[in-house]
Amino acid sequence: MNTGIKIRAEIAGTGMFLPRKVLTNADLEKTLDTSDEWIRTRTGICERRIADEDESSSTLAIQAGKMALESAKILPNELDLIIVCTSTPDILFPATACFVQNGLDAINAAAYDISAVCSGFVFGLSIAEQYIKSGKYRYVLIVGSETNSRIVDWSDRSTCILFGDGAGAIVLKKNEINEPRGLLSTHIHSDGSKSDLIIVPGGIGKKNISHEAIDRKEYFIHMSGNSTFKAAVKRMVEVSKEALDFNELSVEDIGLVIPHQANRRIIDAVTEKLGIPQEKIFINIEKYGNTSSASIPIALHEASQASLIKPGSLILLVVVGAGLTWGAALIRW
Ligand code: UT7
Repeated sequence: MNTGIKIRAEIAGTGMFLPRKVLTNADLEKTLDTSDEWIRTRTGICERRIADEDESSSTLAIQAGKMALESAKILPNELDLIIVCTSTPDILFPATACFVQNGLDAINAAAYDISAVCSGFVFGLSIAEQYIKSGKYRYVLIVGSETNSRIVDWSDRSTCILFGDGAGAIVLKKNEINEPRGLLSTHIHSDGSKSDLIIVPGGIGKKNISHEAIDRKEYFIHMSGNSTFKAAVKRMVEVSKEALDFNELSVEDIGLVIPHQANRRIIDAVTEKLGIPQEKIFINIEKYGNTSSASIPIALHEASQASLIKPGSLILLVVVGAGLTWGAALIRW
């Protein structure tokens, strides 16, 4: 007899952590040929957080992870797996996830990093979904954590104004229920032919690290802003439609969109093309800038804390990042 009971992946808890130090547009005006007005109107960003010397992607991730575990009401030793999504790992190896596992005392969890830059969290969610839905794992912690301030060129006004530091986390949990609740589906894509759009070109395995390469600023973010902007809008619209079509849902069914917070104008263009009204879009870019893989889990945590997500409501996560990578997830809360 088919009871309809299926293994589903549900969000059991969320968390976030941000460094205390705030860098405002007015602060940037003092060191760069820029203005608060330009940054606000072109990006929607007013301020961003900057990690202190004793902070790193792992320390931010540990704090966000602790909050997510508390909110999920589970103990660290119940975690089966920790996935840290980061493009600013503490060091080349071991994986930042191993420092997080140790910091959380999650002794039973395997731990590894994934690199999909801003799309990291949705890619990580997609991996965790497979472990849970296959029945292999019960609890997976997914953390997006970044210290972008360490890899931006603070003399490049076209990039440094955009990025900020922070971490967001969720616990994904196995549940056996009959109604279609929790993570409905994830959709991820890559186009390596567009790898030049946003890149930190400095070699590690490709060539030896040299003083010359460091002087040429090869270990900082280089970005073609305009082309990235256009690609971001196109891919985010496309993958949002793909997620809705896959679940036989429509734009009208969406309760809240949590888009990657890269640029307010990208979010506006995407949601306008999809026909989603302003009140259904969560935006916090003004406070944190682009925190890369941390952007969506931070926004998800803030939206749930602000009671903007009601039980049963449909949430669309949508992202684009260097690679080029892009993805979406639909969640029935
Ligand atoms: O997570 C995914 C990663 N990144 C993104 O999604 C970013 C996507 N791109 C963007 O957000 C936008 O392209 C930027 C915000 C980076 C730039 O905005 P834009 O409207 O595309 O500006 P632009 O690059 O076309 O530059 C317009 C002008 C240029 O001056 P000229 O050549 O017209 O004289 C720039 O030099 O604005 C100048 N400019 C600035 N002026 C003041 C660039 N950055 C600044 C700045 N302050 N910070």
